[in-house]
Amino acid sequence: MLDREKVNIQPEIVVGQGGNGQKPEQTSPAPQPPEASYLDMSVNLAGVTLKNPVVVASGTFGFGREYSQFFDLSELGGICCKGLTLYPREGNPAPRIAETSLGILNSVGLQNPGVDVFIQQELPFLRRYDVKVIANISGNTPEEYGVMCEKLSRAGVDLIEVNISCPNVKAGGLAYGTRPELAAEVTKIAKAHSTVPVMVKLSPNVTDITEIAKAVADAGADALSLINTLRGMRIDVNTRRPILHMNTGGLSGPAVLPVAVRMVWETASAVRLPILGMGGVSRAEDAAQLMLAGASAVAVGTALFADPYAPLKVRDGLAELAAKQGLSAVRELTGGVQPW
Ligand SMILES: Cc1cc2nc3c(=O)[nH]c(=O)nc-3n(C[C@H](O)[C@H](O)[C@H](O)COP(=O)(O)O)c2cc1C
Repeated sequence: MLDREKVNIQPEIVVGQGGNGQKPEQTSPAPQPPEASYLDMSVNLAGVTLKNPVVVASGTFGFGREYSQFFDLSELGGICCKGLTLYPREGNPAPRIAETSLGILNSVGLQNPGVDVFIQQELPFLRRYDVKVIANISGNTPEEYGVMCEKLSRAGVDLIEVNISCPNVKAGGLAYGTRPELAAEVTKIAKAHSTVPVMVKLSPNVTDITEIAKAVADAGADALSLINTLRGMRIDVNTRRPILHMNTGGLSGPAVLPVAVRMVWETASAVRLPILGMGGVSRAEDAAQLMLAGASAVAVGTALFADPYAPLKVRDGLAELAAKQGLSAVRELTGGVQPW
């Protein structure tokens, strides 16, 4: 758990190739694989079977290399890779990560080696593991999304997550995710150029998320993922400077969980697409809330920075929770909320 009192700026944490690859000092031991149980942990996300519902969130797991020293990546249901762009990007200037009460602000700005380097150098590494690979993409123009979808489909990723919700880039990014007609245009182009399922990642920085969800569903998306980070800001009261070099950034971590649960619930009530729920998941109960709200699977992001084993603990905790509730399959949690 993040320390409430700690307000210092953190150096860059593990982000794709920028990760330092060092084991953090304070980590709890790797959980043992759960005992063979009758509970079926598999879930279906837009026709793709995940062996369990726990995925790692884009931008918090790089391309898996740094985390492969902690556990076998095949333990995960899926890996959402760091956001890719058509050409390499250096990202934004530092400082670009700052802690907040119960979360972090980041303005990394899609630092990545570009889609071609991913296909040549990172995908073969991930393919050594029995895990579903979800490529996350951002374009400067709708056409760029199309080109990337074509390349990634041909390269054989399992799913494409179309990021129309990055708050940390100037071109494209959030603009596509906050305007239904642009969100629909990007979705159509992505679908037209993909031979694998397309999942569109929605932004929480909107008044009504169902408006965007409906536009994207009508445009042919196969699944939705939500939420991306919430725009936020911190200011150093002595220097009067914003803590982040970009002034603002995206908030993630436990602070955003209730927003994520609410938005997954609203979205699941509005469209009939499978949902990958995320935002502040650090414990099994958090993941179960997102599933009860309507998510078929969940992603763990910021929690990885405090504990690299968090996704495995969430997976095992979910199995235990579902078994205690007498379920025979974890997917029975999906949509099970009983609203007042
Ligand atoms: C450092 C950092 C980098 C991120 N980079 C991406 C990205 O490249 N693409 C993307 O779609 N989301 C990105 N995200 C958003 C996460 O995938 C996730 O939607 C969000 O952090 C909420 O989940 P969490 O609270 O579990 O972290 C990033 C988040 C963080 C903290």
